[in-house]
Amino acid sequence: MHGTARFEDKVVLVTGATSGIGAALATAFVAEGARVVGCGRDQGRLMSLASRVDLALTLDVTSQGSVDMAAAAVQDRYGRVDIVVNNAGIGHFQAWQDTTIVDFQRIMDTNLYGAIRVAQALLPGMVAQGEGVLVNIASVAGERGYPKHTAYCASKHAMIGWSRALTKDLRGSGVAVVLVCPPAVDTPFFENAGFPDYKAHHPGLALMSPDAVAAGTLDAVAGRRTQVILSPRARALWLLDKLAPPLVEGLQRWKDAR
Ligand SMILES: NC(=O)c1ccc[n+]([C@@H]2O[C@H](COP(=O)([O-])OP(=O)(O)OC[C@H]3O[C@@H](n4cnc5c(N)ncnc54)[C@H](OP(=O)(O)O)[C@@H]3O)[C@@H](O)[C@H]2O)c1
Repeated sequence: MHGTARFEDKVVLVTGATSGIGAALATAFVAEGARVVGCGRDQGRLMSLASRVDLALTLDVTSQGSVDMAAAAVQDRYGRVDIVVNNAGIGHFQAWQDTTIVDFQRIMDTNLYGAIRVAQALLPGMVAQGEGVLVNIASVAGERGYPKHTAYCASKHAMIGWSRALTKDLRGSGVAVVLVCPPAVDTPFFENAGFPDYKAHHPGLALMSPDAVAAGTLDAVAGRRTQVILSPRARALWLLDKLAPPLVEGLQRWKDAR
């Protein structure tokens, strides 16, 4: 835990707080003094979350009605929200031929439009109060292409493009957008995406812990960082990708052929 309570009394809404990174984010914000509204769909996991946060709220980001109800509940209870974390997300890891338009729509509806729905509902309040932070949990898959990731990469690239444009629109409003790009993280995410043997397919890949993602995210929020790529390996690959794309492509092919 960080030595100071950097988020004392801040109202922080975290989507997808019932599992993985969102659960770790909720815990980390609570540990630093925040009043956390943890959201999700799974009622059993929401009940267990309720004892660890200020308020556990049902929220399905694919439903405009659900987003509006959650925003109204937060407004009623606190009269404000200081930090919104768009973390809810799903994966889909299939070859492009096996990825249908319906798969794309499902992924986009959660990962992109879900985040936009939440932001559109809560940003006006933050702009009116003249301060706030919108945190978008993207991915290194939003900066680079990966095999069998077409739908997921498309959703996270789009999230990054949306975030960058929104940053410009919000300039001078007191509201910042913080983009977080984690590498592969040790959560049920891959199992939920129909890829239970992810670890076996990537021997030697050290998965980041959800707690480490949460720590990096809180530092980024405290520092109002525009974008953080968590993990030195992912940062190095990102930089190489920009500077020497053929080299990275060659390395990737060599790895895929093994
Ligand atoms: N794990 C990784 O390797 C990794 C790497 C980079 C980025 N990320 C990103 O990190 C975020 C969290 O992933 P995770 O690894 O923590 O996965 P996870 O353990 O599967 O958790 C996903 C969370 O999203 C929620 N969720 C899914 N669909 C939702 C919907 N329609 N409405 C509201 N909530 C919904 C789930 O809650 P309910 O089921 O209760 O709704 C759950 O709390 C995602 O955006 C993911 O893309 C993950």
